[in-house]
Amino acid sequence: MKKILSVVGARPNFMKMAPIHKELLKHKLKITHKIVHTGQHYDKKMSDVFFKELELPKPHIYLGVGSESHSVQTAKIMMEFEKVVLKEKPDLVIVYGDVNSTVAAGLVCSKILINNPDAKSTGKLKKPIPLAHIESGLRSFDRNMPEEINRILTDNIAEFLFVTEKSGMENLLKDGFDRKQIFFVGNTMLDSLKFYLKKASKSDILKELCISKKNYILVTLHRPSNVDTKDNFKKILEIFRDINRINPELDIVFPIHPRTMKMLKKFRLTAQMESLNNLIITEPFGYLDFLKLMMESKIVLTDSGGIQEETTFLKIPCITLRENTERPVTVSEGTNEVCGLNRQIIRNQIRKIESGKFKKGKVPKLWDGETASRIVKILLSKI
Ligand code: UD1
Repeated sequence: MKKILSVVGARPNFMKMAPIHKELLKHKLKITHKIVHTGQHYDKKMSDVFFKELELPKPHIYLGVGSESHSVQTAKIMMEFEKVVLKEKPDLVIVYGDVNSTVAAGLVCSKILINNPDAKSTGKLKKPIPLAHIESGLRSFDRNMPEEINRILTDNIAEFLFVTEKSGMENLLKDGFDRKQIFFVGNTMLDSLKFYLKKASKSDILKELCISKKNYILVTLHRPSNVDTKDNFKKILEIFRDINRINPELDIVFPIHPRTMKMLKKFRLTAQMESLNNLIITEPFGYLDFLKLMMESKIVLTDSGGIQEETTFLKIPCITLRENTERPVTVSEGTNEVCGLNRQIIRNQIRKIESGKFKKGKVPKLWDGETASRIVKILLSKI
């Protein structure tokens, strides 16, 4: 019996891991799959609700690290996960995306050497615990983003690199990775989306919020570059005012991430925010309600990585409030435009959408709901 550990910790990890778990269950006579939750995200609305809605079991192992500075959080995950690896002796560890939990777990694997089954052919008696990185190769080329560092490091210590889009493949080859390590398989996050689309469409969230189809903008913001400075936060409020001027009928639905809420209070901007016309502020939504809100929205405004991909899949216009994207296919093929916090550019894009002139987009290659089965097939042939 082989043992695989999946390490997740933050909200965007859960939907990327769920289809892998389900696929591995089909092989349960040969493979034990255990889910390790680091506790990077711990609020019910940031974690539990996703396990429930994605029909995942409770995590088999919970590290409970919570929020700290990035260094302390990463270090704590490493300390706790090392104990898990030494006890569980996995044949493979899978990490997802680019959050601190991803790199922390990867580093632990790289520092524990096991006997190398290929010792004869390679001449190396020992090797690190095999690590698979799902969503490998993405690059924003912006090293001020904590996620960019996490992506680069994780790719460099992983043995199996699973890539979601062509740019990932190109970046890894340019960086000198061995072609045999790289597998262009598509996007497991969209396996989840495709699978839950029908269920999500039954959500009553539009009624609950008293909003109507294609008559609202959905906003999500949590990047430190946007919400950790008062000036940028103020620019965002101006963008909301611009939207209101362009189309006073349009509601703005803004589920607020805990980090964003903390900063909003710190900068004493809550009252200003609440006084804006048509703005509906809520707590974070669960997976199904959020999917429903995305699919029925007129526009999505975001600084998230995953949402750029989900809107491309759903063909919903997406305005990304960042200077760059590590997911360029969402711009070149999909419905995403990267606009930074430039009000003029954002206004122009919104007008384009309002007048029906915005690009229509197409779904990128291999985003077909079958990615997890491709990944598991490859992994089973390797361990
Ligand atoms: C993390 C990821 C980011 C991802 C995002 C998705 C890193 C470096 N960043 O950012 O890539 O896009 O998750 O949400 O890994 N907090 C709570 N409750 C929680 C979790 C966090 O209140 O359940 C608050 C805490 O005040 C915490 C802050 O949010 O300090 C930030 O949390 P953290 O996990 O450090 O990073 P995120 O901003 O969530």
